[in-house]
Amino acid sequence: MRVFVAGATGAIGARLVPQLIEHGHEVIGSFRSAGGAERVQGLGAEPVQLDLLDARGVRQAVLAAKPDAIVHQATALAGVRFGRSLDRSFGPTNRLRTQGTDALLAAAREAGVQRFVAQSFASYRYAREGGPVKTEDDPLDPDPPAMARETNAAMRHLDQAVTSAGGIALRYGGFYGAANDGLVQPVRKRQFPVIGAGGGISSFIHLDDAAAATVLALDLGGAGLYNIVDDEPAPMSEWLPALAAALGAKPPRHVPLWLALLIAGKGMVMMADGSRGASNEKAKRELGWKLRYPSWRQGFPAAYGS
Ligand SMILES: NC(=O)c1ccc[n+]([C@@H]2O[C@H](COP(=O)([O-])OP(=O)(O)OC[C@H]3O[C@@H](n4cnc5c(N)ncnc54)[C@H](OP(=O)(O)O)[C@@H]3O)[C@@H](O)[C@H]2O)c1
Repeated sequence: MRVFVAGATGAIGARLVPQLIEHGHEVIGSFRSAGGAERVQGLGAEPVQLDLLDARGVRQAVLAAKPDAIVHQATALAGVRFGRSLDRSFGPTNRLRTQGTDALLAAAREAGVQRFVAQSFASYRYAREGGPVKTEDDPLDPDPPAMARETNAAMRHLDQAVTSAGGIALRYGGFYGAANDGLVQPVRKRQFPVIGAGGGISSFIHLDDAAAATVLALDLGGAGLYNIVDDEPAPMSEWLPALAAALGAKPPRHVPLWLALLIAGKGMVMMADGSRGASNEKAKRELGWKLRYPSWRQGFPAAYGS
C-alpha cells in the first residue's frame, strides 16, 4: 500500500516508517518543523511538510500523494512542560486530535482512501471504578478532573470521528523506549515521587511494539478501537521503583496524597491513585500481535540499561 504517515518524525512515527517499509509499503511521511525532510528521507520515506491545522494544505497534500491508507501520528508534545493543568500542556495536541483529525478524515474521504489509523491513548481514561484492567468496551471516565477535561474530550472526539468513518483508533499505553522519554529526566532527578500508596494503574508500551501493532492494524484491523499496551498494567508503587532502578537512579521519594494534591493538583493524584489500566487481549487476538517486550519489567532495563 501507499501509506501517508502524518507525524513521521515523532517518537512513534520514526519507528513506524521503517517497519512499514520493511513490510513492503511505500511511505509518504509528513513533518512540520525545519529539518524534517532529511529525517523523513533518512527513514526511507518521501517527505512532505504539513501543518495539520491547515485544512486546505492537508487536502492538497493528501490528494497529491494519492495514498491507499493514512496513519495519523501527529501530536505536539516535544519539549512540553507539564504543570498543574494538563489541558494547557496538551492544548496544541488537542487541536491536532480534533481539527487535525477532521482535516485528515475529510481529505481521506475526498481522495477515496480506504484505510485510516489514528493515534489515541489508553492510560488514565477508563472509568475509575470496578476492576483494575479495562477493555475497549468498558466505559471511559465520565468525570475527568477539571484540568484534563479538554484533553479527554479531544481523545473522545478522535476515537469517535475515526471509528465512525470506518477507521481504527489505537489507544496506546505510555510510550517508552527512547533516550529522551518524558519520564527519564524527572525520575533520574527524583522529581517524580510515588504518591500515596501508588495504587493507580498505568499501562505502558515499548515504541517498537507500538509500531509493530500499528503495521498489523493497518493490514488486518477491523474498524474500531484497540488498546495497544503491554501485558502487565501495574500500580505506580511497582513500576516507578523499577524504572528508577533501570535508569540507575536512586529509588523514588514518597509523598502523601494531601501534599501531592497541594503541589501537583488533582490530575496527577488521579493518575497515581485512581487510574485503571488497559487490556491488550483484543489486539493480540485479532491482529496476531506478539510483543517483543511483554512487560515493562523487561522493557525498562532493555531500553535504559547500560
Ligand atoms: N502514548 C504516549 O505515551 C505518547 C504519545 C505521544 C507522544 N508521547 C511522548 O511525547 C514526547 C514527544 O513526542 P514526539 O517526539 O512524537 O514529538 P511531537 O512534538 O509530539 O511530534 C510528533 C509528530 O507530530 C508532528 N507535528 C507536530 N505538530 C504538528 C502540526 N501542527 N501539524 C502536523 N504535524 C505536526 C511532528 O512534526 P515535527 O517533528 O516536524 O515537529 C512529529 O512528526 C516523546 O517522549 C513521546 O514518547 C507519548
